[in-house]
Amino acid sequence: MELIKNKVEEEVDDYDHEDDDTDEEEDVIIAQVKWRKHYSSVQKILLVGDGDFSFSLSLARAFGSARNMVATSLDSLEKIKKNYSDGIRNIMELEERGCVVLHGVDGKHMSDHFFLKTQRFDRIIYNFPHVGFHFPEENCCQIQMNKTLVKEFMKNAKALLRKENGEIHISHKEGDPYEKWNLVKKAEKIGLHLHDTVPFYKNDYPGYQNKRAHGSSADAPFQLGQANTYKFRLITHPL
Ligand SMILES: C[S@@+](CC[C@H](N)C(=O)[O-])C[C@H]1O[C@@H](n2cnc3c(N)ncnc32)[C@H](O)[C@@H]1O
Repeated sequence: MELIKNKVEEEVDDYDHEDDDTDEEEDVIIAQVKWRKHYSSVQKILLVGDGDFSFSLSLARAFGSARNMVATSLDSLEKIKKNYSDGIRNIMELEERGCVVLHGVDGKHMSDHFFLKTQRFDRIIYNFPHVGFHFPEENCCQIQMNKTLVKEFMKNAKALLRKENGEIHISHKEGDPYEKWNLVKKAEKIGLHLHDTVPFYKNDYPGYQNKRAHGSSADAPFQLGQANTYKFRLITHPL
């Protein structure tokens, strides 16, 4: 992983100093940086709660190499095999592309994870956090459980974020009852500010299959409706 870190840092360094290069060298350097929507091959990226790993794979395919990525699930490999038709295939391709894939990673405690705690990330992504269907979606206990998940995820992500330009991205459905989760207010209490909000379109991530992830229809998609990606940054205090 240290190797990945050095390589990514070298590439970022090259990218930052592109004015010093000739036009020809510039072209080569720019060609090396690959993007999918907000994400690039020079960012060190942590993905949390990725259902069947198709979102991670969509980024990996765009970048070519996934050596800059760590993709995680709360689910064990066994559960992924049982729940998702493409889960194992997606994981195998991610690993072939150099991604570190980890299972049993709880977003509420991940800053204590033996490997993750040694790393710092430019982007930490959790798409559509949800604890599973314990009560009806509008039930206050269900809302409270989801709010706790997001709050604890944010606290843990904050600890793993690079201080300079690091961002935590949460994609989230709009409308009732999702607005009751109060993402932005929660983030502010934790020391994160909302840097930007942009609409989330599934088609921006070819191959991505959003998953219900729970119960007998875990492999089925959930209705996305209107959704946004919330980008949070650390609140920095002037010296
Ligand atoms: C609605 S699904 C979304 C899955 C995937 N991100 C997607 O966009 O298709 C919610 C995901 O959150 C995961 N999850 C629930 N509690 C979690 C926790 N404490 N830590 C990490 N992931 C969790 C579930 O395993 C599930 O994959």
